[in-house]
Amino acid sequence: MILIHTPSPKEVAAYLALFRAALPQQQFVTLDTLTQPERVRHVITWGPPPALFAGLPALQAVFALGAGVDKLLTRDDLAPDVAIYRLLDGGMAAQMTEYIRYGVLGYQRHMDVYRRQQAAGQWKMLAPRTPQQVRVGVLGLGEIGGSVAQALAADGYCVSGWSRSAKTVPGIRCHHGADGLATLLSGSDVLACVLPSTPETRGLLDHERLAALPAGAMLINAGRGDLLEQNALLALLDSGHLRCAQLDVFDVEPLPGGHALWSHPAVTLTPHIAAITLRPQAVAQIAANLERLAAGLPGLGQVVRGRAY
Ligand code: NAP
Ligand code: GLV
Repeated sequence: MILIHTPSPKEVAAYLALFRAALPQQQFVTLDTLTQPERVRHVITWGPPPALFAGLPALQAVFALGAGVDKLLTRDDLAPDVAIYRLLDGGMAAQMTEYIRYGVLGYQRHMDVYRRQQAAGQWKMLAPRTPQQVRVGVLGLGEIGGSVAQALAADGYCVSGWSRSAKTVPGIRCHHGADGLATLLSGSDVLACVLPSTPETRGLLDHERLAALPAGAMLINAGRGDLLEQNALLALLDSGHLRCAQLDVFDVEPLPGGHALWSHPAVTLTPHIAAITLRPQAVAQIAANLERLAAGLPGLGQVVRGRAY
């Protein structure tokens, strides 16, 4: 039996219809129709309620309806032997590329400065800058970050990337480890973060590391909010060391009303929409994974608990 749950009943109904169509031989249930929790072996979810998993004694695997699994990994009701699978791209890499390309292009063409000049009624042309003159550092070279980095390199930007393990990606200067991060930071006009939130990455973008970016740099954070020390960013924007930021993810979401980031003139913020799960892609991927498991094959996109992503 497979339980589907997200916080939106409308969304649950939509997923239920799609999964039933994709796998008519399987029995799908929702929380309001669940009468035999002891028969649930798989859960497909985003934002499960507290203690949900504790009441499912036969649970074997959880399928996240997203790429990041930080919230699942920090729960205390999910036994360590329950497998967690996440979405691999599923249409999110293309959306993330658009989101980051938008920021990088705006930076290259000085759009943030022109917006501020407009607010001040100022008519002033700035010197043109080509993509080749803009160095972009991408933190995270996985399913999503790897695609973003390659797309920006194809646009002509000078792209470096950073990952946990050593990597070779065509057209990208690849770095890893602490030394690699220092090299990347000092040579990035735009720093674009697509890292997962793990015990190793939380708080990574602190004052010291953000200050290591060249003067006038831009930060884009679309990984997770807790990777960034928001006050450090605000201080560096206020001092003028950083020129602007485009933020999609925050420590607390929704970002509380009145927070300084809402009204900062150098900040563009969005409500966690950089790359949204596309239902048909998610259903196709999870249905294929369920079929693999039923056939005794290893599932794809299994989270490595020890790495926390
Ligand atoms: P992924 O395929 O697992 O890739 C993660 C990348 O981060 C890998 O390159 C990995 O290095 C690197 N990494 C992990 N820990 C690291 C560390 N300690 N030091 C350096 N690099 C490290 O994940 P993905 O599918 O690309 O997704 C990445 C994240 O994007 C998600 O976890 C989620 O937080 C975020 N996201 C946000 C949105 C949004 O709308 N804002 C949407 C989707 C995803 P290795 O290559 O060496 O393993
Ligand atoms: C969204 O943030 C995701 O991780 O899929």
